[in-house]
Amino acid sequence: MSKEFDVVVIGGGPGGYIAAIRAAQLGFKTACIDEWKNDKGGPAPGGTCTNVGCIPSKALLQSSEHYEHASHGFAEHGIEVKGLNLNLKQMIARKDNVVKQNNDGILYLFKKNKVTFFHGRGSFEKAEGGVYSVKVAGAAEETITGKHVVIATGSNPRALPGAPFDEKLILSNTGALAIDAVPKKLGVIGAGVIGLEMGSVWRRVGAEVTVLEAMPTFLGAVDEQIAKEAQKLLAKQGLEVNLGVKIGAITAGKKDVTVEYADAAGKEHKAVFDKLIISIGRVPNTTGLNAEGVGLKLDERGFIAVDGDCKTSLPNVWAVGDVVRGPMLAHKAEEEGVAVAERIAGQHGHVNFNTIPWVIYTSPEIAWVGKTEQQLKAEGVAYKAGTFPFLANGRARALGDTSGMVKFLADAKTDEILGVHIVGPMASELIAEAVVAMEFRASAEDIARICHAHPSLSEATKEAALAVDKRSLNF
Ligand code: FAD
Ligand code: NAI
Repeated sequence: MSKEFDVVVIGGGPGGYIAAIRAAQLGFKTACIDEWKNDKGGPAPGGTCTNVGCIPSKALLQSSEHYEHASHGFAEHGIEVKGLNLNLKQMIARKDNVVKQNNDGILYLFKKNKVTFFHGRGSFEKAEGGVYSVKVAGAAEETITGKHVVIATGSNPRALPGAPFDEKLILSNTGALAIDAVPKKLGVIGAGVIGLEMGSVWRRVGAEVTVLEAMPTFLGAVDEQIAKEAQKLLAKQGLEVNLGVKIGAITAGKKDVTVEYADAAGKEHKAVFDKLIISIGRVPNTTGLNAEGVGLKLDERGFIAVDGDCKTSLPNVWAVGDVVRGPMLAHKAEEEGVAVAERIAGQHGHVNFNTIPWVIYTSPEIAWVGKTEQQLKAEGVAYKAGTFPFLANGRARALGDTSGMVKFLADAKTDEILGVHIVGPMASELIAEAVVAMEFRASAEDIARICHAHPSLSEATKEAALAVDKRSLNF
């Protein structure tokens, strides 16, 4: 096997594996190197997303939601459940199986698209004559070369000083997805995306969850009206979120963890938890790449420095996904991966950062795209707002989930949609319509005039668009 490639991708998460597939589709001889190991030491491509992120968290969110419905929701539908039991071992095993299906799916896609996969750690060796040598340290050690290199090495969880992750008592996302017995008391530091999703999973299966958040506002980046509604709904479910706390010492004992903290009023507390999840953000991962060795520039926060086209400081070296600026989202990484492969082919790959959707998979889900009301105010943009509650939507009533609303923000003069914010059932699916509309620079009236199926949750989207012009029909 020749070890000379047109494109060498380092990292097989959503940024890397998608870049490799697109490069191969465009006719380049492509290699993808990924070091993730499954529990048998074999390859497990897919990165954080597949192994300890998007996929396993959504599997557990689904299972725990089924359990919650069976325990509390079915009775209303006239379904009586007796002798309900939680088989956590099976829940975790199912999650592991979903992960494996995705790992195998990526290996299959590599074969189908003729991407050569290397299992091991990739690091820059040298750059000579416009060609990069990359060492692969796996079961064996070998060197491959590439005319172009795409770095997609992702991110790692940020630890709190003095509280390293042991994944037994002090857990990152990795440990939080593999707890083997429901903790009686679970502490979560950080009420961000992971804190709320993992907090929801373990609360639903019986843990008493306490979330400790440094910021004084709940989900500060989310539209304020939507965040307030979400906070109210999550509190009603029993997810206790304490805002404005200052974390002090964290001490791991033999069987529990003690967290000292001051609450928003300055009162000191000492809380003892059976397990503690720390989810306070993630840091870029450039460990072992030998970036310094070839003079690859990082920015002041440790991300690989790139321009708007994902070009690094080195010719023909690109970087995508969590290891570069921008939101740490799998779909953002994928879009950058595709755009880079197309740029290598001389095409005009493009990522529109204004229309990247966000979803928090709590129940109800929180999803948004574009500007929040507070951003528009701060930017002095004149806007109109329209909201529609799921309470007035027939499908939501039939489902038995009428929580939340859809909110549109449109330019006061042109009616162009500037942002759409949803908290409610299936918000993750509903947001796609808003993304399409914004990509096509649609007006709120465009959505209001489009026929939506009845009864469907998407009618709430149409009604919120109608509400921008104060002419909702069903509310
Ligand atoms: P990664 O997925 O981190 O992949 C990087 C890969 O590179 C890894 O396999 C790593 O082993 C490998 N690697 C690193 N260095 C080397 C090297 N030197 N040689 C070889 N291989 C190397 N995002 C969403 O959009 N939706 C979600 O629902 C979502 N849920 C999440 C839930 C959790 C709990 C977490 C932690 C994250 C979640 N994310 C979600 C974020 C998402 O996982 C990341 O944005 C995404 O994985 C980034 O993709 P990436 O390709 O940049 O990096
Ligand atoms: P996050 O940035 O979403 O939230 C971190 C939270 O911790 C913030 O609210 C922050 O104010 C708080 N915090 C920071 N330092 C603190 C401290 N010392 N004490 C108390 N609170 C503190 O980060 P998170 O939840 O770790 O997730 C990382 C990233 O992974 C997300 O930003 C997102 O990009 C991605 N992700 C995406 C998901 C999705 O798309 N559904 C799901 C999970 C993760």
